[in-house]
Amino acid sequence: MKTMKNKLLEEFKLGDYKLKNRFVMAPLTRMRADADLAPTALNVAYYRQRASAGLIVTEASQISPQAQGYPSTPGIYTEKQVAGWKQVTEAVHQEDGRIFIQLWHVGRISHSSFHPEEGLPVAPSAIPLTGKTLTATWEQVPYETPRALEAEEIRAIIGDYRKAAENAKAAGFDGVELHSANGYLLNQFLHATTNQRTDAYGGSVENRARLVLEVLEQLIDVWGAGKVGIRLSPFTFAGDVYDPDAYPVYEYLLKKLESLKLAYIHYVRARPTEIDDASVFEKEKALWKGYQGTLIAADGFDTATAIDYVENGWADAVAFGRHFISNPDLPARVALGAPLNPYDRDTFYGGAEKGYTDYPFLKQEEAV
Ligand SMILES: Cc1cc2nc3c(=O)[nH]c(=O)nc-3n(C[C@H](O)[C@H](O)[C@H](O)COP(=O)(O)O)c2cc1C
Repeated sequence: MKTMKNKLLEEFKLGDYKLKNRFVMAPLTRMRADADLAPTALNVAYYRQRASAGLIVTEASQISPQAQGYPSTPGIYTEKQVAGWKQVTEAVHQEDGRIFIQLWHVGRISHSSFHPEEGLPVAPSAIPLTGKTLTATWEQVPYETPRALEAEEIRAIIGDYRKAAENAKAAGFDGVELHSANGYLLNQFLHATTNQRTDAYGGSVENRARLVLEVLEQLIDVWGAGKVGIRLSPFTFAGDVYDPDAYPVYEYLLKKLESLKLAYIHYVRARPTEIDDASVFEKEKALWKGYQGTLIAADGFDTATAIDYVENGWADAVAFGRHFISNPDLPARVALGAPLNPYDRDTFYGGAEKGYTDYPFLKQEEAV
């Protein structure tokens, strides 16, 4: 097969690193950590297989027991978890890959069974989600009403992020991505839908952005700005945080992020299937076009739309989620114009090798 040239396959500078291509493996929760929520040999094999991505962003990893919201997701707060992650980073580095860990606090998208000593999930305000969630033993139950965080608890969470960033360094990661998207804790603080606080962390755009910026300050102190990224999803419906008036808080936040000179912003784009108000897409364009820094775009990309995005300056790199689940050698397949393996939703979450490390690579004869 002939190699096809396109901008996705070109190297580029992201923060302190030169990446070998513009394919990012999106953060993907797979719920396959061990009973101590530490990565296993199976997780090592999975990440090793995908090291041809320019950058791997790991599955979201909780910074404390309180930060967990789903069964069998890995943490980055115990020695055993750090040791497990160390095996992962060593494998990716042996294959000449780069890997950042996504730091996670779920906020209200949790259940007390994950942190029985602390009780209810925590959030900016005591506003419950509708619908059902999974407990620590994989039972489906209605969401509990979260407890609003006290000011000193917010300080403790900032400390947990710092400790997690230090642990990530000890585990050999190349950097950290702050998960501030998809309806989790930091996204809950940014949006007025979920943040009705009247203290320094709620109300004005400056106040709602305060926690994200205070956490970033700690991550940058540990890592340096060129090794810190952030994921944002201003117009997401995930976790019931959609806020039609979210634009000003992001406009403010992006100006601040620009001055911090972060390695990148990783944005989850608005979905035409969820939003029929055309002005939202105009606002989104204004946000990303106006940002003077490195951008990674995510959500629903195929090869053609990804090439279009990087060639037309909407992003410097593109994150692929589901295609990376089923195509460990995604960059090689795109380079060769080879077909992609379809993904199997039933094996996304939990289980073992099936649907995790058994997706086929291109066969030798296809790869020449
Ligand atoms: C199985 C699965 C797990 C995911 N886990 C995470 C996660 O841990 N952190 C995160 O920010 N996004 C997560 N996402 C969202 C993906 O990173 C990505 O944005 C989404 O899959 C859309 O990209 P795609 O169309 O290329 O799959 C997850 C998505 C899927 C399908």
